[in-house]
Amino acid sequence: MTLDAEILKALRAPPGAEFSAADLVQRLRCSRSTVRSHIEGLRALGYEIVSDPHRGYRLVSAPDLLHADEILSLLGPVEVVGRDIHVFKETTSTNDVAEKLARDGVREGVVVFAESQTRGRGRLGRRWVSPPGKGLWFSVLLRPNLSPQTVTQLTVAAATALSRAIRQQTDLATEIKWPNDILVQGRKVAGVLTELSAELDHVNHAVLGIGLNVNLTTGDFPPELRKLATSLKVSAGRPVRRAELAAAILRELDRDYGRISRGQFTAVADEWEGQCTTLGRHVSIRLGDRRVTGRAESIDEDGALQLRTDHGHLERITGGDVSLEKS
Ligand code: BTN
Repeated sequence: MTLDAEILKALRAPPGAEFSAADLVQRLRCSRSTVRSHIEGLRALGYEIVSDPHRGYRLVSAPDLLHADEILSLLGPVEVVGRDIHVFKETTSTNDVAEKLARDGVREGVVVFAESQTRGRGRLGRRWVSPPGKGLWFSVLLRPNLSPQTVTQLTVAAATALSRAIRQQTDLATEIKWPNDILVQGRKVAGVLTELSAELDHVNHAVLGIGLNVNLTTGDFPPELRKLATSLKVSAGRPVRRAELAAAILRELDRDYGRISRGQFTAVADEWEGQCTTLGRHVSIRLGDRRVTGRAESIDEDGALQLRTDHGHLERITGGDVSLEKS
């Protein structure tokens, strides 16, 4: 962990367990002036840190910005996802940055956040609105031991982890729309774009791009999306601090990535099915130029949707755009 991350972790100590400058010097094995200059640096970023001669340093409030060290300090130990975190003020798309890191041979687990994206993209070539400071726009580089046929497991795991973390942090009731849209009160709050580099029989790497509308207002969405999309702030009626939420999502992603890497996809799929509002519904799915309609029956062991078409066939669906028909 970096010094800033260590300091922020120490400053979150509960009342009565504050750290004096001397404690920090000892804990971080650095000089008093180094501690002081890092505290000043954090204050300049907007962290309100009080120093009481008797009680030591205390973090009173933190700004709603994405700071890699703060997310690391909140995250705690992880196996893979979030071992390394980069935050950019602006990028074209965090998926582009993660893809470049993949080609440079960076190890899996690195996460790239951006405060804003100029060319954020969604599934099926759609644009993803990513205004500055209002959302979590990030990508995770993974090198899973999965075949291209089973890689849908990743997307299912991502949706499950994302949904669980949102519930933990906000108490909002989330639903999953197959394969990976997260809905709150029937409107989309988050989505996952998985991009792959693969051979016929194995995946070289995957970039899991996640977009979560955190503190957007209705006016931040283009008019055509206002009835379809929402944010946590709009739904919960209060703003949500992004750093804690980001750490919670990475922790849950790490957990579910661990589960699928150990061959425990069934446990993830069971949880996913419990939250998925697509199953049991009559749906219409656009697959390029083709549209199929039928009843969404289940997901198989690879994460694909089993659709009982209106003609009675069982069709295995691995992509496409699902619309829920009125039930
Ligand atoms: C969807 O269509 O539902 C998927 C949206 C994914 C958006 C995220 S934001 C971070 C990452 N960078 C992108 O350009 N897209 C993904």
